[in-house]
Amino acid sequence: MAKALITGGGSGIGAAIARRLAEQGHQVVVADFNTETGSQVALSVQGEFEQIDVANEAAWTDLAARHGDVDMLFLNAGTTTLPHTELVADNPDSPPTPLSNVSLADYRRVSAVNIDGVVLGTMAFLPQMIQRGSGQIVATASVAGLVPFPQEPIYALTKHAVVGFVRSMGAAVEPYGVRINAICPGFVQTNLLTDETLSVIRAFGLPVIDAGRVAEAAEKVITSDTNGALWFVNGESPIGVHVPKDPDLI
Ligand SMILES: NC(=O)c1ccc[n+]([C@@H]2O[C@H](COP(=O)([O-])OP(=O)(O)OC[C@H]3O[C@@H](n4cnc5c(N)ncnc54)[C@H](O)[C@@H]3O)[C@@H](O)[C@H]2O)c1
Repeated sequence: MAKALITGGGSGIGAAIARRLAEQGHQVVVADFNTETGSQVALSVQGEFEQIDVANEAAWTDLAARHGDVDMLFLNAGTTTLPHTELVADNPDSPPTPLSNVSLADYRRVSAVNIDGVVLGTMAFLPQMIQRGSGQIVATASVAGLVPFPQEPIYALTKHAVVGFVRSMGAAVEPYGVRINAICPGFVQTNLLTDETLSVIRAFGLPVIDAGRVAEAAEKVITSDTNGALWFVNGESPIGVHVPKDPDLI
């Protein structure tokens, strides 16, 4: 039995990962900004709940001090600019042009959760993993971290950042017995996407998967031996992996 801490574990993909790990007998810590949903999921998996804003450095220091024995750290909490985009798009007096519907505050908010949340979490937990000579980190990136996503360039920016960080960190932590990998899901039916957004995605014929499929990918990641790898889960396609090789570094 290993101990897993999952940010954004109170909903969607994080909650599905929490359930899957608990079913396999792992000890689960659900870490989420939302106390109500986070503690409900924690209760359902007989785990612990920790309230955290992943963008807050001090909160990470505190969390790492109290959970020094975490074997698997899932840096999964994430957010999007979409709700704001839709609000503006609904206003006929203000038809959006690219980026016009994203405020500076949106940019900073999404960057703080999606990028800082991964970097600060890694900074907080990596030293103790290195000291133990074991441990693994799994970041939830996105297909939007690999391909253009014109509908949400800021979200795509943050996920490209996570992909670059994980690919680079893989080689850096390898000598210390630590692993870091990323999961890149396509569209997943969670609270991140409104019903309206989901219906647009489906109207384009794009697949939308269940969060359980991403948890299945998460299990493949933790039972693999990859480092700095990108794991894909999208539609009906089999779960795939891109493992970095030397030429990738050029
Ligand atoms: N849903 C999709 O289509 C999709 C696709 C690819 C990647 N992702 C990524 O998957 C991850 C999980 O998203 P989801 O779809 O399950 O969404 P979700 O909205 O269902 O869950 C996100 C969780 O993160 C928590 N959270 C948000 N900001 C936080 C903060 N500052 N500190 C701590 N917790 C915070 C929320 O309270 C929520 O419980 C995100 O990183 C997202 O970008 C989602």
